[in-house]
Amino acid sequence: MKDLESLVNQFRTPAFPGSFFFSFEGIEGSGKSTQIKLIKEHLENEGFNVIVLREPGGTPFGEKLRKAILESESDLHPLAETHLFCAARAQLLQEVILKELSEPNTIVICDRFIDSTIAYQGHARGLGIENILIQHATFPLNLVPHRTFYLRIDLETSLERQRKRNMPKDYFESRDDEFHQKLISGYDQSAELFKERVELINGSANEETVFGELKTKIDSIVRGNQEYAS
Ligand code: TYD
Repeated sequence: MKDLESLVNQFRTPAFPGSFFFSFEGIEGSGKSTQIKLIKEHLENEGFNVIVLREPGGTPFGEKLRKAILESESDLHPLAETHLFCAARAQLLQEVILKELSEPNTIVICDRFIDSTIAYQGHARGLGIENILIQHATFPLNLVPHRTFYLRIDLETSLERQRKRNMPKDYFESRDDEFHQKLISGYDQSAELFKERVELINGSANEETVFGELKTKIDSIVRGNQEYAS
């Protein structure tokens, strides 16, 4: 098996000058959806054309796969899960992300991307992070966002926020605390592996503080004050 470093080095960012691709990651209750909404509004006020997508989903085919996974009545093999998420991702890249990024002044924001597969299937479901990276070797799956914002919260914060929301739980949410603890460690490993791409944000801070931090980082990238890997 190839070593992790060479697998990490196989990834590229889509090269469309002036347009940016960002993803948001985190476990349940991390505040991704709220922050994505705030950042979209902010970037639109700055004059960008902002496209928000979710994974799995964002295309008719991807939405079908989303239903197949999240409403599955049987426990799927983690490899089956991975193939379905990768199929939805390849389609989303080809049908939407690359097309949108080719338009000037566009920002694509994806709610979850490859780091979810690393944390969920690679680590928590036990397939192995190397296997997830190998699955992503071929174009367009070897494309990653310019920056990923990982809103990190601990298990207690996640459980507390879920209790307050009191929503029905899906295929992954209904798993035990050990699974959710593994998700955190899977995300931490991904952030460590992709140090240049993944920004760790303290998601347990209040909404305004998190938004302030995100806004500063994102403004700096889109105004060209900060180099990003390409
Ligand atoms: P969703 O309702 O979008 O989750 P959330 O609102 O918490 O973002 O459901 C997506 C679920 O799919 C979520 O539990 C994470 C999981 N998932 C994976 O396991 N692997 C993946 O590659 C992706 C993209 C999502």
